[in-house]
Amino acid sequence: MGSPLTVASSISEIRSIWRDCRANGKTIGIVPTMGALHEGHLSLMRAARPECDLLVTTLFVNPTQFAPGEDFEKYPRPLERDLDLCRAEAVDVVFTPTPDVMYPAGHQTHVTVEQLSRPWEGAHRPSHFRGVTTVVLKLLNIVQPDIAFFGQKDFQQQLLIRQMCRDLNVPTRIQTCATVREPDGLALSSRNAYLSSEERKQAAKLASALQLGLNQLADGKTHLPGIREQMKQHLEAETEFQTDYITIVDAQTLEEPDSPTDQMVAIGAASLGTTRLIDNLLVPPLTLETLNSI
Ligand code: PAF
Repeated sequence: MGSPLTVASSISEIRSIWRDCRANGKTIGIVPTMGALHEGHLSLMRAARPECDLLVTTLFVNPTQFAPGEDFEKYPRPLERDLDLCRAEAVDVVFTPTPDVMYPAGHQTHVTVEQLSRPWEGAHRPSHFRGVTTVVLKLLNIVQPDIAFFGQKDFQQQLLIRQMCRDLNVPTRIQTCATVREPDGLALSSRNAYLSSEERKQAAKLASALQLGLNQLADGKTHLPGIREQMKQHLEAETEFQTDYITIVDAQTLEEPDSPTDQMVAIGAASLGTTRLIDNLLVPPLTLETLNSI
């Protein structure tokens, strides 16, 4: 049996754990989450566990990354279940702040990664990334980890966080971990729980449309605008998907190249009814190892 799980809801508790840890020369890893944990989050914890002495997970549904009318209120918050899952993954500390702890009255500083936050998710959710980078920087400043783990599923998010850490000299290494999928290819997400059974049957089409793009490139096709159009047609054929975007972009700049390069990612976002899904696939030869070494 490892040590029991510590649940801390104040910043002072985390600071005291941090002092103890540093005094004993221990390394710290963080897995930031909004809770409603699934296998995707657990895979981040499993990747993190052997890489640090103290593993901290944060459970915080961050209000500033939801726009008015999005699902902040209905976002699932199964706290006891999440804590049990953290215990099973040998997490040492769970940080569960309230919004007042993270954003006390008078809070007025936000972080924006200028260019990378504009396209794709940024264009469809204009205030989202400002909320994400602000809360992630705050969590990194509170926990002061050596290494932080994020999922590849939120590709643009992990890219922004890397950029923010570079730009603001945050001494935390960012590790991006592979997306975990259902057997039919649907990327795991807490929001999959919103899908009706009919929508769930259609949902894997997003991953297969991205894969179609990769297959075309593997077959030697080079006309990216044509490939992008085929991906969209595939996604929307015989489904109720409303596409926000589905495309192939440069994995560092997020711009759409005219012809294939060796650092591309296929990204997509589309809604089924009221549920918005996002996903991405790295285009070979790009790998997660390369991404994590940049
Ligand atoms: O990816 C998420 O779950 C959230 O955006 C994060 C990184 C925990 C910030 O709230």
